[in-house]
Amino acid sequence: MDTAGSYPSRRGEDFSEELAGKGWYHSFALPDGTVIQGYNRLEVLNERYARLPIPRSLAGRRVLDIGAWDGWFSFEAERNGAGVTAVDCVEVANFHTIHRALSSRVEYRILDFYDLPQSGLGPYDFVFFLGVLYHLKHPLLALEIVCALTTDTAIVESFVTDADTWREHSDEIPAMEFYETDELGNQLDNWIGPSVGCLLAMCRAAGFARVELLYARRHHAGVACHRTWEPLPEDAKQEPPELIAVSNTRTFGINFFTRKEEYVSCWFRTSMGAVARDELRLEIAGFGIRALYVKRQTDDTWMANFRLPPGLRPGWNEVRLRLAQSHFGSSHRIAVDIPLHVRQLVVKGVRDGTTWSDEGIRVDGAKAVLSCWVHGLPENADRANVYTRLGEAILGIEYVGEPDAQGLRQINATVSTSVASGVHPLIVECGGVKSDPWPVSVAGGDTVPNCIERNQ
Ligand SMILES: C[S@@+](CC[C@H](N)C(=O)[O-])C[C@H]1O[C@@H](n2cnc3c(N)ncnc32)[C@H](O)[C@@H]1O
Repeated sequence: MDTAGSYPSRRGEDFSEELAGKGWYHSFALPDGTVIQGYNRLEVLNERYARLPIPRSLAGRRVLDIGAWDGWFSFEAERNGAGVTAVDCVEVANFHTIHRALSSRVEYRILDFYDLPQSGLGPYDFVFFLGVLYHLKHPLLALEIVCALTTDTAIVESFVTDADTWREHSDEIPAMEFYETDELGNQLDNWIGPSVGCLLAMCRAAGFARVELLYARRHHAGVACHRTWEPLPEDAKQEPPELIAVSNTRTFGINFFTRKEEYVSCWFRTSMGAVARDELRLEIAGFGIRALYVKRQTDDTWMANFRLPPGLRPGWNEVRLRLAQSHFGSSHRIAVDIPLHVRQLVVKGVRDGTTWSDEGIRVDGAKAVLSCWVHGLPENADRANVYTRLGEAILGIEYVGEPDAQGLRQINATVSTSVASGVHPLIVECGGVKSDPWPVSVAGGDTVPNCIERNQ
């Protein structure tokens, strides 16, 4: 059954007539004494700005105002010292009028929201995302884009469905309404109505470390979304956790790509008897990121998963972990958006990874491991971008070691019991470059033939 358009209209104000009458969305008090009365009264605008958890002086700070409309928030941030960029998808004549009247230096860009990541703009200390979210069909993607543009705090204000009642059902799974046509406020570009809980959950899921409800009233809620953890505890009551390993949850490697849906797994040791997800304070390149999952592995070892924080720069990024009441432990690093550059790969030696014999690999029913030493692997070589083949068999890589003094890196790979006895060429491949074959003898039983030969 096609029910399009048959839903009841959603609450929410249709202010189009009042707005048309006034001609201005925002009100302004200009230095020459002129007062412009817009749909949003000055007292309300001043009150909204005053409750933003940003410094009163924004000297030296950068602000992005997304969906600026007449620009009151842009000009107010500039008045407080910020370097401001205002963005809107439509060019608003009123904005230019005020810009001229104030001799403003606010940079005004006519840009659709979804063009922001490719615009070359940012990052910004503070991002105002006020009254725009519900105009976008892809709210979580939108919040991720906002997060990636923010280094300190983003302010998200949105239409919500339960501003005055959200506490009554705050223990329920978050929900969001979807408006297929003009159900909300008679406007065709009103797409979504999250509950307060859903708005907060989406801000957290987008990648912000701390998310704080500023207000919820009538049909709107405001949220401060911080990219960093709260300051370190002055009197740390917990020992810092020992970060043992960090890897890509999917590939087990150290490489991450920001355009992919990727998660970070961390193994750590702590003297705490129990660790709750909300106690974990992971930081990558200075951005805090919340844990999605934590599980005890052994008595003192734990594993936790996190999403990759949006907005990481290409290169090596530092990862460190603390608990709510501890300082940070030692750090690891991950490779973000680093291409693989390989010129030449040379295998320098092969051993049986179990017996350590250099005379061949024994495949006798138990798990067989081949260890080899390779020259030429790039710094960001890992389990997911190095491939080894023994004859026709693709070997599963278990470990790629750090370079030794000669620049050789050890690779451990499992050899399946289905590999036939005999001599097979070992080829290592990375970044599209292959090594010359190294002959490896495989024996299926107790007798290990002495037949490793170098062909160079
Ligand atoms: C409800 S007004 C909010 C104005 C102002 N930020 C405030 O809170 O007072 C929404 C603004 O977002 C802009 N907008 C809506 N969709 C947009 C998009 N896809 N890209 C950029 N701006 C958009 C509209 O043109 C309008 O200026």
